Amino acid sequence: MSSSRRNERWPLITNTNTKSPISEAYRILRTNIEFSNVDRNLKCIMFASSQFGEGKSTTASNLAVTYAQTNRKVLLIDCDMRRPSQHHIFMLSNRYGLSSYLSHQVDLDEIIVDSTIPNLSVIVAGPIPPNPSELLASKRMSAMLEQLREQFDMIIIDTPPIMAVADAQIAATLCDGVLLVMDSGRVKREIAMKSKQKLEHVKARILGVVLNKISRKNANSYYYYYYGDRDQGEEA
Ligand SMILES: Nc1ncnc2c1ncn2[C@@H]1O[C@H](COP(=O)(O)OP(=O)(O)OP(=O)(O)O)[C@@H](O)[C@H]1O
Ligand SMILES: [Mg+2]
Repeated sequence: MSSSRRNERWPLITNTNTKSPISEAYRILRTNIEFSNVDRNLKCIMFASSQFGEGKSTTASNLAVTYAQTNRKVLLIDCDMRRPSQHHIFMLSNRYGLSSYLSHQVDLDEIIVDSTIPNLSVIVAGPIPPNPSELLASKRMSAMLEQLREQFDMIIIDTPPIMAVADAQIAATLCDGVLLVMDSGRVKREIAMKSKQKLEHVKARILGVVLNKISRKNANSYYYYYYGDRDQGEEA
């Protein structure tokens, strides 16, 4: 994904500006995931990254929007119960969410919320619990996902950084595939390799890497290759 200051102001660019090259990049990501899904068993996809701020939540939410735009019933779950952000991105209340359900405070249907985008529902993280890893590893969590797999065509999961806590590794065991988001300008090779090993350790199926925050200078030639339209560069 190329870097844009607009991303920070309008994180859901796939909804606000469907024609921009950035939205096109998210659609290409969706297509590439479909290509990797030859045996058609990819229903639950997780976004992970080594460190904070590499772009997991932004990529997960925009990918969820592009899936919903293909008329599939999509659910985005914020499993980052430490620094949740999907409620900010979708402007939803975080009063109840995943943590509330997993700690037996509410029923499942109370935490599945419609976003303003057709076909896209969201489960926000909820109030920050003292034991996120324990909640993710609970039987209630795996049973919940089994049930949701019946209700939705695609489930997309957002997680905390792999190098910080075990949450992403735990969540990976419940998903069909993992996409590793990497901040192209920041993350060191050894750290990226360590994260990959941590995912392999729990036998996660790594679908690929999303190279994020590629500088505009380098990204432009890629866009022009696709669009041949110089003016679109600044509109992204
Ligand atoms: N392609 C991009 N270009 C420019 N900015 C981006 C891009 N992707 C994400 N960002 C910005 O980077 C910041 C971090 O992104 P985001 O919250 O998605 O990362 P994260 O990996 O979920 O972080 P955390 O680990 O804290 O949950 C946000 O301000 C977001 O708007
Ligand atoms: Mg995040």
